[in-house]
Amino acid sequence: MIQDRIAELKKRKNAVILAHFYQMPEIQDIADFVGDSLELSRRARDVDADVIVFCGVWFMAGSAKLLSPSKIVMIANGEAGCPMADMATAGDVARLREMHPKAAVVTYVNSSVEVKAVSDICCTSSNAVRIVESLPNAEIIFVPDRNLGSYVARFTDKKIITFNGYCPTHHRVFIEHVDAARRAQPNAELLVHPECVREVVDAADFVGSTAQIIAYAGASSGKEFIIGTEEGVLHPLKRQNPDKRFYMLSDRLICPNMKKTSLEDVVACLEEGVGAIEIDPGTADAAATSLFRMLEVK
Ligand code: 13P
Ligand code: SF4
Repeated sequence: MIQDRIAELKKRKNAVILAHFYQMPEIQDIADFVGDSLELSRRARDVDADVIVFCGVWFMAGSAKLLSPSKIVMIANGEAGCPMADMATAGDVARLREMHPKAAVVTYVNSSVEVKAVSDICCTSSNAVRIVESLPNAEIIFVPDRNLGSYVARFTDKKIITFNGYCPTHHRVFIEHVDAARRAQPNAELLVHPECVREVVDAADFVGSTAQIIAYAGASSGKEFIIGTEEGVLHPLKRQNPDKRFYMLSDRLICPNMKKTSLEDVVACLEEGVGAIEIDPGTADAAATSLFRMLEVK
């Protein structure tokens, strides 16, 4: 079985497999750790292994390499990008800095290495408010996600200057989907990711990162949930809560890039060394600083 082959290769190479909750079930099942972006960054920094095989999109594997430069970090499928991460450039950040010279730049980890390198600090969806509040600046330039930026603005007195980026997967879910899902499942709680548009976030019973959504559903006394994030989270949700029912807010909530990784890709990484991440030394240190700063904020 391919799973046995992966287990044997992992042992031989002293490798660990890190996977995001949006990965296919069979990938989550062979991973040593499955998590949200923040937990995966922490694991990548702390894990004791020679090799990390990352099952997720490029910015996640890139962050793992920045945080663990002495390890071999491989992306299982090198074609798995994140369209939101490609929306902002270092030039965009420079222009925003010129317009708002007193502002600090907080960059969502769903971004390129170049953009991280010109930022003051990174954040994820689970710590964005905390990161913004940790800074002395009264003005914050928030890139690239305008939806997460406007969600953060609700919890702080600081002025949040957003960029016009968005996640194409979460951004195509509308209040009409909420109305239809509520009608179909009137007793269910609606749990959504802050990458969703404002009207959807406003209508939710809980807003959080993938890990926070999974934790909320587990702890809730409720028995039915409408899930407003990528459908990969159904796998841990159903496994951990066999007595509860989960419904997708919309069948549009599928990230095509997260679905590119196959078990064969993982074998190719471990067997042939395909997918090793190399980061331009000119930007690596500055980008890593933005990530390490984020991990220092309690
Ligand atoms: P999380 O950090 O919540 O896992 O989100 C990552 C992501 O890409 C959301 O679209
Ligand atoms: Fe990027 Fe959206 Fe896919 Fe997350 S779900 S990886 S933000 S495209």
